[in-house]
Amino acid sequence: MNRSPKRNHVPRETIDEIRSRSDIVEVISECGIVLRPAGRNFKALCPFHNEKTPSFTVSVEKQIFYCFGCQTGGNVISFVQKHEGKSFLETIEWLAERQNIILPTQDRRESANRKRFTALEDLNRFAVEYYHRQLLTERASTPAMQYLKRRGVQPKTLRSFQLGYATSGRREFVKVATGKGFTIQQLIDVGLIKDEDKGPQDRFWNRILFPIQNERGVPVGFGGRALSEDHQPKYLNSPATTLYDKSNVLYNLDKARQSLYKQQRVLLVEGYMDVLMLHQSGIEHVVASSGTSLSENHARLLKRFVPEVVIVYDGDTSGFQAAQRGLHRLLAEDLRVRIALLPAGEDPDSFTRQHGVDAFTELTDKAINLIEFQIQSAIQNRDIRRVDVKTQVVKEVTETLLNLKNRVERSEYIKYAAKELHVDERVLWDELKNAGFKETSAPRQTSRGKAAPQKLSARALIEHQLIEALIQNPALLPYVKTQFDAQHFTEPRFARIAQLLWEADTDGEQVDIQTLINDSGDEALNAFVSNALLRRTPPPNLQARVEGCLKKLRNFHLQDLEQRVRSHARAEGADEIEILEQLMKLANERRALHGRDVGDTHDENPNEGRS
Ligand code: UTP
Ligand code: MN
Repeated sequence: MNRSPKRNHVPRETIDEIRSRSDIVEVISECGIVLRPAGRNFKALCPFHNEKTPSFTVSVEKQIFYCFGCQTGGNVISFVQKHEGKSFLETIEWLAERQNIILPTQDRRESANRKRFTALEDLNRFAVEYYHRQLLTERASTPAMQYLKRRGVQPKTLRSFQLGYATSGRREFVKVATGKGFTIQQLIDVGLIKDEDKGPQDRFWNRILFPIQNERGVPVGFGGRALSEDHQPKYLNSPATTLYDKSNVLYNLDKARQSLYKQQRVLLVEGYMDVLMLHQSGIEHVVASSGTSLSENHARLLKRFVPEVVIVYDGDTSGFQAAQRGLHRLLAEDLRVRIALLPAGEDPDSFTRQHGVDAFTELTDKAINLIEFQIQSAIQNRDIRRVDVKTQVVKEVTETLLNLKNRVERSEYIKYAAKELHVDERVLWDELKNAGFKETSAPRQTSRGKAAPQKLSARALIEHQLIEALIQNPALLPYVKTQFDAQHFTEPRFARIAQLLWEADTDGEQVDIQTLINDSGDEALNAFVSNALLRRTPPPNLQARVEGCLKKLRNFHLQDLEQRVRSHARAEGADEIEILEQLMKLANERRALHGRDVGDTHDENPNEGRS
């Protein structure tokens, strides 16, 4: 097996143990996907593409997943890798931790680092609980509770977001946390205290705390809201720490995930309170940028969950200006971007409270795309008839068009822009080209799915059947290996799997298909294998079917050989007698194979079963 050195880092047996102890249904559910029983399997809406009826299938028995819609598949490890965006090693570590399996990590420093990390996460969890309890039970928190009540935060919201309260003491948390055994250094490392001349001080005092979680729900920092105008700043946030990098975190992404899959879009708002109030009104597919501009990481993070971002900002805020600077990053990730503008001075929180949630939904439904937005705001705010203004707007629009990945959209937008700005379409195309745009003729893949499957030749169909039979019943492999060479597969995909299978079958031990999935590290291959395992239970006459495939494939192979001999015969200086002998030998072999015609392929279409 060609395993990368990184994979060798963790011993094979450990990987196998971790995999076999991690139930795929449990893990997928923990990743926020709602699985429903369907016969012997589980089904869900696929997290990897947009669909209305579930084609994402998980088999408990086989411990694999496969989506009949977008043809993504694999085992528990490949699922976590893909869904959580983790490396193979990170996935192993994550699953191990979940099962309390100690990894014999070769690199001591790395495992020490890991420990340090986990301790800091524990400290943050402790802080969230502590501050939350303070809010719920401490008498000193009464003004904070009243404040939240005044702002319409319901008790259930306050609990599900685990809002907290830091009292006015300056050394409260220092005392409690060190009493719990956390060190001053750890407290500094997570940004909960500051080391000052007069000794360590709590960062947060007399503030309502919004715990900030990463997309997996691990608390990484806090946003602290002051209760009054004269306490500045209005929001005090955790500093950047080993756990918290604001360019990597979007507030509420952990809770929103399930809803994002369902809605296939995310609402991007500015503030913590906006998230809370929308969530409370039943709008859960919402995350907040928390006053920072959108980073490339944010865009990539969102792309993992949704194809579309609806930005809901008050167009007059500095926050919006900041977000606007980040918009091209969303486009660069091939996300659709739309903008819903709120009346000046309003945010989603104040807007829904004033106009109701339906008005808010209407507003987001009517969100316009980025190009429309740029053009409309230019037309409204500037004198578009002036040549210099028009030139400037064309430049801005060109920049956006340049970032657009979708060709169809691009040409639609160019039409639209040309019409609205009263310029010729060709002017815009020229601008694009001047700005470095190159039209590629390669067909675009659908935004989330794979390229459409090609039609397979009759021969490839049989290769497909044989490989599938072997995956469904690896016990046949030793026999098949003696009958047919992996190199004689013609379809590259199947040749690659055959090669892996043939190699995996070494010392008489039955090949473990799960191991094959891990070792391949190849998405297409994993999908194929999972599909084969899930599509149907192997037919009772599997052995006979395999024999049939072998016969046909050998026949094809012999035909290849004959072909080669014939073309050799045409070459100059060929020994005619020898060629004739070879041809007769091959023909005899073919006849011995079956004596009758073998070109028929009555068998089923491997593409069936997809929705
Ligand atoms: P806003 O000033 O719009 O506040 O900042 P808000 O969210 O509406 O808060 P309320 O309704 O007055 O309580 C938007 C976001 O910018 C970040 C916060 O994440 C805030 O939610 N921000 C704002 C800061 O980090 N620091 C600040 O001083 C202000
Ligand atoms: Mn607000």
